[in-house]
Amino acid sequence: MKALVYHGPGNKSWEEKPKPVILQPTDVIVRISKTTICGTDLHILKGDVPEVAKGRILGHEGVGIVEEAGAAVGNFRKGDRVLISCITSCSKCSYCKRGMYSHCINGGWILGHLIDGTQAEYVRIPYADSSLYPIPEGSDEDALVMLSDILPTGFECGVLNGKVQPGSTIAIAGAGPIGLAALLTAQFYTPSAIIMIDPDDNRLSVASQFGATHIINNQRENGVEKIMALTANTGVDTAIEAVGIPATFGLCEAIIAPGGTIANIGVHGKSVDLHLERLWSRNITITTRLVDTVTTPMLLKTVTAKKIDAKKLITHYFRLDDIMSAYNTFEHASAQKALKVILNNTGV
Ligand SMILES: NC(=O)c1ccc[n+]([C@@H]2O[C@H](COP(=O)([O-])OP(=O)(O)OC[C@H]3O[C@@H](n4cnc5c(N)ncnc54)[C@H](O)[C@@H]3O)[C@@H](O)[C@H]2O)c1
Ligand SMILES: [Zn+2]
Ligand SMILES: [Zn+2]
Repeated sequence: MKALVYHGPGNKSWEEKPKPVILQPTDVIVRISKTTICGTDLHILKGDVPEVAKGRILGHEGVGIVEEAGAAVGNFRKGDRVLISCITSCSKCSYCKRGMYSHCINGGWILGHLIDGTQAEYVRIPYADSSLYPIPEGSDEDALVMLSDILPTGFECGVLNGKVQPGSTIAIAGAGPIGLAALLTAQFYTPSAIIMIDPDDNRLSVASQFGATHIINNQRENGVEKIMALTANTGVDTAIEAVGIPATFGLCEAIIAPGGTIANIGVHGKSVDLHLERLWSRNITITTRLVDTVTTPMLLKTVTAKKIDAKKLITHYFRLDDIMSAYNTFEHASAQKALKVILNNTGV
């Protein structure tokens, strides 16, 4: 089969690899129909995730068709259409029992990280019964690819951890796919204001179309001053960090209202300053989370019922065998006005 293979920082190629085989009776082999590229794949290619071995097939998102199911798999058979979760869950360990699938001692985030991933014609999915979801008949499969990672991440790490409530005020720093997924899912709760902050005008205009009540380009404007002015100098009830740099975590600390919650989503490579000299008396909560994908079944219902239009996050389509061009587009996301790209395995 063909697959996108990581060969160390800065190096990747679309090349021939052996087709995966069942290793455990709980495994399923999925023929990929659609996959995508994540910002995390770019982090891997920059060398930011050193545990990814050379020779690893990248990718942790996608939908496909079951090619072969191991003897102990009860929920799926050959021919079933399935949604792949970016998080593998054994459903039996102490973390899985607490709904913390991301910390599953037998799985967690392993796809395209510690085991071969989905940017290939076939992928092996361990613990398939609890790591795959059946695709309802008639679903738009492009939209469902947004459920492998982006939508549960924005919702769980941003909206749920951030305790978004009817009438509350939210600021989201970062209007990338994750910040926009938080923006879409925050609207389940009818907050009174959602302020998006990003230096990219194109992404801000997308955010406006997705329901942001205010947009701030913090390259041209002072984000803190503008948000304080918009909130009668109290700040916001929920500040969601969806970038992963000290500046935006600092912004969240500067704009959080008394009693509010800073919900961090961004992957941070550097330490940030914790301003307890300002925050000690403000009754705030700071949360961190690796996406668990525990809300995927619920989000699947909202997407198939068209309560949220996940397809809005897709800007480009490619054939899977043209994945090198897709990477090129995604690596220049700002210039290309790219959010998510869909890669179609046209052989399916
Ligand atoms: N916690 C988790 O489980 C989890 C899961 C997936 C991704 N992530 C992380 O979420 C973050 C966002 O992911 P993404 O795919 O949307 O990334 P992205 O790079 O596509 O988007 C980041 C956005 O931040 C904006 N930005 C840059 N500097 C800024 C600044 N100073 N102020 C405001 N905005 C700024 C960029 O213009 C861009 O639109 C990343 O750090 C990613 O690694 C976390
Ligand atoms: Zn991802
Ligand atoms: Zn587990």
